[in-house]
Amino acid sequence: MMATARRGFTQGLTFGWVRQHRPARCVSTMARKAQALIQMTPATGARQYSWGELQGARNVAYGQRSANFNTKTPASKLDGEYHDLRSKDTFERKEWVGQSEELDNDRLDIDGHPVMQRWETPYMGELAKVATSNGGRVLEVGFGMAISATAVQSHKPKEHIIMEANGDVFKRLQQFQKENPSVTPMGPALWQDSIAKVEDNSLDGVLYDTYPLNKEEQHIHQFEFLGQVRNKLRPGGILTYCNLTSLGVLKNQYKTWEELFEKTQLPHLLEAGFKRDEIKKAYAYPVTPTSDCEYYSHDTAMVPVIIKGDN
Ligand SMILES: C[S@@+](CC[C@H](N)C(=O)[O-])C[C@H]1O[C@@H](n2cnc3c(N)ncnc32)[C@H](O)[C@@H]1O
Repeated sequence: MMATARRGFTQGLTFGWVRQHRPARCVSTMARKAQALIQMTPATGARQYSWGELQGARNVAYGQRSANFNTKTPASKLDGEYHDLRSKDTFERKEWVGQSEELDNDRLDIDGHPVMQRWETPYMGELAKVATSNGGRVLEVGFGMAISATAVQSHKPKEHIIMEANGDVFKRLQQFQKENPSVTPMGPALWQDSIAKVEDNSLDGVLYDTYPLNKEEQHIHQFEFLGQVRNKLRPGGILTYCNLTSLGVLKNQYKTWEELFEKTQLPHLLEAGFKRDEIKKAYAYPVTPTSDCEYYSHDTAMVPVIIKGDN
């Protein structure tokens, strides 16, 4: 296990070396070749890192908060499989707004990072079904390829607010709004800058599916959002979320989604202000990731269901 963790984190440092020598858009492709690149790195061309330095860098990258979130698993294990998310030191969230997208029918990459892929369509449909089960006013965060947004629209919500940070993606969201008048686009801005504009107790449903904008938030970004959106839900409002970039890694460590949810999600949901009886369930949904997917390889994905009780 430790060998894997060390190799994984060394990969991250290797990416740093790669980034200095290759165009940024090549980096996600490099993820598949990281092990080979470690071998290829010329002894004189790359800095050698001591184990102490690796540990120190890991602590900076994850911070105490994320190390705590899964107390049964050594934090070092989690370092092994991120796919080149930039460190907080070098990539501020707001930079995401201006990064260019690369979109085709099957996938969306932003700044060379794989952000969304077509195989997620049935899973997005399930999340949309949950989020729209009350009808009414639904908030979606993360427009991506419009897959979940299209599914949400098929349930004909009265209002469909969509928050999106990236400028290129937001332009497509504006087009989507022209074809779907119940859509209210918010952005291009981070949800962190838009959420205050949503009235308290006004939402009937929420679907959160964004992308971690740096390594530090890979496993925890959803909880910051969930903590802030609880007040925006009306009593009885329903919420679901996904973070496949995290779950793809965590699922290697837990046999069942129930166990994973209890150990890695529940404590954070409680800390975010949800009551135990509001956290209804998390169930498995079948998925079929394509072989080019760098962030997910399991045959099920998790659908959490949270229903707000009284204020
Ligand atoms: C995984 S994609 C969403 C995919 C979408 N559910 C679909 O079905 O196509 C994540 C999206 O969240 C956006 N995003 C990332 N961080 C964000 C933030 N803090 N606020 C708003 N949008 C964000 C990204 O630009 C990207 O478009």
